[in-house]
Amino acid sequence: MSASSDAQTAPRPLRLAEVEAIPVLGQDSIVCGFHLVDYIWKDIFENLKAASTYVLITDTNLLALYVEKYKEAFATAWQHHRPSVTAPRLLIYTLQPGETSKSRATKGAIEDWMLEQKCTRDTMVLALGGGVIGDLVGFVAATFMRGVPFVQIPTSLLAMVDSSIGGKTAVDTPAGKNLIGAFWQPQRIFMDMAVLSTLPEREFSNGMAEVVKTAAIWSPEEFEVLESRADDIRTAVLEGQKDGGSAGLTKATRTVAQGLLLRVIAASARVKAHVVTHDERELGMRGLLNFGHTIGHAIEAILSPQVLHGECVAVGCVLEAEVARRMGHLGEVSVKRLARCLAAYGLPTAMDDPIIRRRAGDAKLAEVRPARLMQVMGVDKKNIGTQKRLVLLKRLGQTLEMKPTNVDDAIIEATMSDGMRVGPVAAEAVSAAATLETVVVPPGSKSISNRALQLAALGQGECRIKNLLHSDDTQVMLAALQAMDGCSFRWEDDGDTLVVVGGGGQLRVADQELYLGNAGTASRFLTTTVNLIDASEGSTVVTGNARMRQRPAGPLVDALRTNGCVIEYCEREGSLPLRITHTGRGFPGGHIQLAASVSSQYVSSILLCAPYAQEAVRLELVGGKVISQPYIDMTIAMMEQFGCHVERVAENEYVIPRGAYSNPAEYVVESDASSATYPLAFAAITGTQCTVPSIGSSSLQGDARFAVEVLRPMGCTVEQTATTTTVRGPARGGLQALDEIDMEPMTDAFLTAAVLAAVAAAAPNCTTRIRGIANQHVKECDRIEAMCTELAKFGVATENHADGIDVHAQQISKLNSETPTVHCYDDHRVAMSLSLLACVAPGGAVIEERRCVGKTWPQWWDVLARDLGAPTIGADTGATPAEVAPGSTTQAHDMSVVLIGMRGVGKTTLGQAAARELGLEFVDLDDLLERDVGQTIPEIINRSGWPTFREHETRVLAGALSGELSRGAIIACGGGVVESETNRTLLKAYTGPVICLTPNMEHVAEYLSHDKLRPAYAITSDIHDVYGRRLPLYAESCDYEYLVDKSLLGHDGAEQPGAWALIERDFIRLVHFSTGSNLNRVDMQRPSKFVSLTSPNVRDYLPARLPALTAGAQAVELRVDLLLETPEFAAADLADNKTGTEFVSHVHRQFTLLRHSSRLPVIFTVRTQPQGGRFPVDAVELRLRLLHNAVQWGSEYVDVEVDDHAAQIYSARRNSLVIASFHDPIGARLRWNAGEDEFALEMLGRARACGDIAKLISTARNWEDNSACHAFVQRHHSPATPLIALNMGYIGQMSRVLCPCLTPITHSLLSVASAPGQISAKQINEARALIGLLPAQRFYLFGTPIQQSPSPAMHNAAFAALGMPHSYELKETSTVDALEPVLAAENFGGASVTIPHKQAIIPLLDCLTPAAERIGAVNTIIPVVEGVQRQLVGDNTDYLGIVGCLRQAQFECSAPSFTASTALVIGAGGTSRAALYALHTLGVRCVLIFNRTEARAQELADEFAPLFEKLSTVTQLEDAAASAPAYIIGTIPASDIYLPEALFSGVGVALDMAYKPRWTPLLEAASRRKWAVVHGVAVLIEQGIHQLEKWTHSVAPAKYMGDAVHSKYNMDF
Ligand SMILES: NC(=O)c1ccc[n+]([C@@H]2O[C@H](COP(=O)([O-])OP(=O)(O)OC[C@H]3O[C@@H](n4cnc5c(N)ncnc54)[C@H](O)[C@@H]3O)[C@@H](O)[C@H]2O)c1
Repeated sequence: MSASSDAQTAPRPLRLAEVEAIPVLGQDSIVCGFHLVDYIWKDIFENLKAASTYVLITDTNLLALYVEKYKEAFATAWQHHRPSVTAPRLLIYTLQPGETSKSRATKGAIEDWMLEQKCTRDTMVLALGGGVIGDLVGFVAATFMRGVPFVQIPTSLLAMVDSSIGGKTAVDTPAGKNLIGAFWQPQRIFMDMAVLSTLPEREFSNGMAEVVKTAAIWSPEEFEVLESRADDIRTAVLEGQKDGGSAGLTKATRTVAQGLLLRVIAASARVKAHVVTHDERELGMRGLLNFGHTIGHAIEAILSPQVLHGECVAVGCVLEAEVARRMGHLGEVSVKRLARCLAAYGLPTAMDDPIIRRRAGDAKLAEVRPARLMQVMGVDKKNIGTQKRLVLLKRLGQTLEMKPTNVDDAIIEATMSDGMRVGPVAAEAVSAAATLETVVVPPGSKSISNRALQLAALGQGECRIKNLLHSDDTQVMLAALQAMDGCSFRWEDDGDTLVVVGGGGQLRVADQELYLGNAGTASRFLTTTVNLIDASEGSTVVTGNARMRQRPAGPLVDALRTNGCVIEYCEREGSLPLRITHTGRGFPGGHIQLAASVSSQYVSSILLCAPYAQEAVRLELVGGKVISQPYIDMTIAMMEQFGCHVERVAENEYVIPRGAYSNPAEYVVESDASSATYPLAFAAITGTQCTVPSIGSSSLQGDARFAVEVLRPMGCTVEQTATTTTVRGPARGGLQALDEIDMEPMTDAFLTAAVLAAVAAAAPNCTTRIRGIANQHVKECDRIEAMCTELAKFGVATENHADGIDVHAQQISKLNSETPTVHCYDDHRVAMSLSLLACVAPGGAVIEERRCVGKTWPQWWDVLARDLGAPTIGADTGATPAEVAPGSTTQAHDMSVVLIGMRGVGKTTLGQAAARELGLEFVDLDDLLERDVGQTIPEIINRSGWPTFREHETRVLAGALSGELSRGAIIACGGGVVESETNRTLLKAYTGPVICLTPNMEHVAEYLSHDKLRPAYAITSDIHDVYGRRLPLYAESCDYEYLVDKSLLGHDGAEQPGAWALIERDFIRLVHFSTGSNLNRVDMQRPSKFVSLTSPNVRDYLPARLPALTAGAQAVELRVDLLLETPEFAAADLADNKTGTEFVSHVHRQFTLLRHSSRLPVIFTVRTQPQGGRFPVDAVELRLRLLHNAVQWGSEYVDVEVDDHAAQIYSARRNSLVIASFHDPIGARLRWNAGEDEFALEMLGRARACGDIAKLISTARNWEDNSACHAFVQRHHSPATPLIALNMGYIGQMSRVLCPCLTPITHSLLSVASAPGQISAKQINEARALIGLLPAQRFYLFGTPIQQSPSPAMHNAAFAALGMPHSYELKETSTVDALEPVLAAENFGGASVTIPHKQAIIPLLDCLTPAAERIGAVNTIIPVVEGVQRQLVGDNTDYLGIVGCLRQAQFECSAPSFTASTALVIGAGGTSRAALYALHTLGVRCVLIFNRTEARAQELADEFAPLFEKLSTVTQLEDAAASAPAYIIGTIPASDIYLPEALFSGVGVALDMAYKPRWTPLLEAASRRKWAVVHGVAVLIEQGIHQLEKWTHSVAPAKYMGDAVHSKYNMDF
């Protein structure tokens, strides 16, 4: 690692760069330039204090690129400096790149190495690299021998403009980034911009976020350069490579672009240096540099490391600018410019930006909820107490204050929210506002903005355009006009005014094609404009994006061509791109015929350019009815305003003399009339007054008539001048319906009218009929349909017509008093109009997708709240209740799941099973490849070899992961897919789940020895070697891992028959989990418990004890630390890598065994000794590895101790939830009483920062600690931010009774409790019943005859075993009417339903589960309470009883798999429906039905046919025998049907639903043929278990229930 150098020959001359210096802290320490290497050493040797040793620390990326150069230059520079003296030492130390190197451990390693190298105090340390190297190496320098000199050579853009300047040095710790460090100023900072050419593109963008941010707070001029020269700046980065890598060494060789790059970076660095100089220790002004960082950091805390710092800051900048806009400090134009500028450097600008979505993945992104961000922001260093502080912009280049400003939480949260809760506006506020004059200026009209721009550009002189709408059209048009030198422009008043200096129609050929994106108006207007170029050679291409290239341009091009312009279509006839050739004739003019039935914009395009034609223009519109005449009139009127007169000589003929526009000094763009309807309607609906000063009676926009033609007749006072409109609404509730109104001239305003009509109930006849708006069925959405749907949510009735809508008004007081959630269909007009109704509706409303207003009026919510005074707060509409829980993630359900793993492990079988269950397509990548190549894999390998095969594989994989197959499929890859690095990269980059199936290699070897279809592994490589090699490759490529081991459940490695069914079931569970389609989480809305397993081997609980001891629980905890107590590991050295790996495999097997034995979610806990567990506290790496594995294995919960490595696990947790726990075994620190709870609050804060669920466990010292704990819980727990808090110890038991969620419990079957004072589920329930927290409920059996039913015995036994105070009784009745009062009773807990009511009961219920719906019968009623509402849900557990019993039987007797078997159902009554649904659930594909009356069987077959591949009837059971059914279900009472022996061939299972007598003829016959049998009573018990679980939301005490039934059964039958 060391290199010293002696010169042997004359040194080469030094190549000294010309540099610029930037002062910082009073010294010229920052040096910028290109190709600085020689300069750096010379400067160090000559100008800095000499050192005996120079230590250059860098990372491996830079080592490869630059270190040799530095070594060579070091020697050369020394030879020039002191040829006669031996050179000092140059030592090189290299680190792995990336944030993980910025740790205490790496710092220690560097220091140890430096000590070993005998570095003394006269050592100089140089940091060559990005911010990571700079921060870390700076900290080493700061503390080595109490501080040694230090030089920064930043190589990333971020390091140049930010991290290298200011002397902040730091390392990360598990508790957070940059928490340990020092201020240590570098002696020099050398910025060599030539090295940026090797910086990855994404890192360049990452740094640009800081550059744009700095300009935004500091310098309007720099900001303008950044926004207008993005492309040049990007290309400049590469120019360091020009001229063999010397371009820019001297000023003379610097390219223009390099000069620009240097300027931009130096400017940014200068700001940082200035701020640092004035506030070195970050006491005041330095806070300004945090613009965008407050929100940015919060986003980063969730999305790092997938999303980079700069990317998060970019989004933060835009959101913080929106906060400033919301508070009235910053204009919308500035917000837009800022966003555009960031986007130009490849940065994201919104949370839903595709860049973020791609990098973070949907699951992670779903975690970025406003509440969560607020929570993270709550712990920002910059806050003062709880007051948040943001840097607010006043304009681009200037902040509101020279420090961060206090901002209310509500404003920040609303800005980050995707929804908005609006209203109602209080009546007092209305009366106050009614006396005030509210003035609102809606954004400029788009059509007028576009025309004004074109006119001013062609005109002569300067024109200040105000209220211009900034849209893509205006943006693109400005850029194009400028590219043709057609005009120049600048912004004034922070972008409120655009000053255009017209070019008088003089245009030149642009250097490049004119790219117009999807800006339709711009493309039409410019198509004619380009012809005004009077060059006699060259051509101009006008093009756009893919959508634009579809849009028609034909009629306009035809007219211009006929007129003599030379235009050709470059691609498709009739559309852009166009090539316009310049002939020197310009735009000829004269008589032009134009087909104007497609777009009025063609007409306007010719009209606007006509005065500059070579001859006066006579424009004749032909080809049918002219469309949108008002827009043509608007163009003509505006031309007049700019001094050119158009004469309409006939209906469709216009004459335009030659001339030139003369620009008015100021032009105020009229507001968009459709937008203006909203503030005016606000006044109307709330009874206030509002003035729009930018639209009046002279307006040419159709919607400008709204005030006079709609609001006035509805009872408003309307005053209008030529340019202003003022509306005062009648007293609230005083609007009158309009009988019928034709809104054809103002169709876009119909939504506003419909909202007013909804409350226009002043007069008795209160229906408003709006007509003439047929086009609104096909706008952004079907707006008429949308209004009908959304108004209904407020309680307003409507009718949808082909050309209109009827609105039946409702009194305001009678509108829905709840808060409806309005869906906006991504349509700005739906959002804005309905937000007005929310202003008066008693409960207001939540408007979803609030950002859709951005299309025309991004500031609408600001205006509504700030100017109109409506109460608005952010609403998190993106989160479903389940998602509200922090950390909950929903991966896109439809992202395909990719399976990898050794050949023979079961990818196909398991993949197909999961695909069937989840309704996905199963795709075998090898099949795909064979089809694609047209050869079998052995053929490809034999003919072209393995490398060719792998190439095909990569291509097919890449196609599958990015194309259509990336959604809705399960994709099984070949075993060797991970052998190629490209494939591994593809898999790692894929955002859907990649699951690796981990084999028991013995089974795989055995299986493969029979597989002759696939090419063998190379002769030299044993399959075990292959696996050994691939193991780490699989591990790095997958997100989840699933262990496939058939011997797990058997003893001594023997396979357990039927194990495969469980493997399949639990694999499907993992697929559900990994896609987020079923996360199997505990419901936090109700109390829950988990049982903690204390035995060192899960097997000790199997088969029977596990179900018994989990009864009453909602989750089960695997205490991994206790697994260490097995003899195998009791004395093991966990620091030994091999032992560690063996323990991990052991835990994996235990975990999988637990999965196979319980459906409950698992809590994976590795409790350390200081926290009351068994795991050695120093085995950190192994513990971390286990916790990461828990996430990979799909454990629903992972318990991580706070203060530890929690943050690491938390950020890597995927769909698992982290329980961040802290235990105080003494009870001295965690105290709960308010006032004494400072430590508890701190721990709670820390737990919440690194966990989804906080768990704080103290120890009770006296009984009062329990009430204090309960009060603490009540202060800090909510279902969205759950808190487990309790006291250990005997005195603390009551705190367990009161714990709100996930209370740890023990069971009498467990030999020891896992913690002192732990009690059982039964004890907790009994205590809760005693203290009134678990009121007794009554459950029933409805039916007749039912006196013999064992159900009461079964359920009452269960309630008793669980300690629940409930009772179950018979309710015998022959009609369901008698049941209504029972169902309505407050203490009704649920019911079983039997014959004859299974169908008759349905009308009394509120809804059915999908199963009950499909079966068409209900056997279970469950009351579901949400808030104050109770719904009666009808379910069916009969089928679950059949499913459970058949699975168990198959497991025990190894009957053939369900998917490969035929089943026979005997009977076609109600029960057979449940039987068919059960068979469908099990995956059976072929079913026969036999019934005495065949017609009924056929009816049933017809109805259920869609569920099966084959469903047919048989007339005789002999016929069924031919299909050899392996499963037979009897559903008719035991009878004397003849059962031919041939029916029971092979191995099979017979199940009879009849349970009297125990042995039915079907079961007897089956048993004679050695089939497995399932008695009806077993099904009865199994369905009862499901019933009880649905009622109690916990595991049923199955054994107690079974025993109760059997004892009654034995007595009665
Ligand atoms: N001290 C401060 O004031 C301050 C300010 C901001 C950020 N930071 C810190 O800076 C770090 C981030 O810095 P970063 O963005 O530079 O990340 P980084 O140091 O990880 O560099 C990014 C990547 O680019 C590579 N790289 C750097 N320069 C290169 C070049 N010229 N050619 C090829 N590859 C190159 C690196 O090897 C690395 O892989 C964070 O740790 C952050 O906390 C510190």
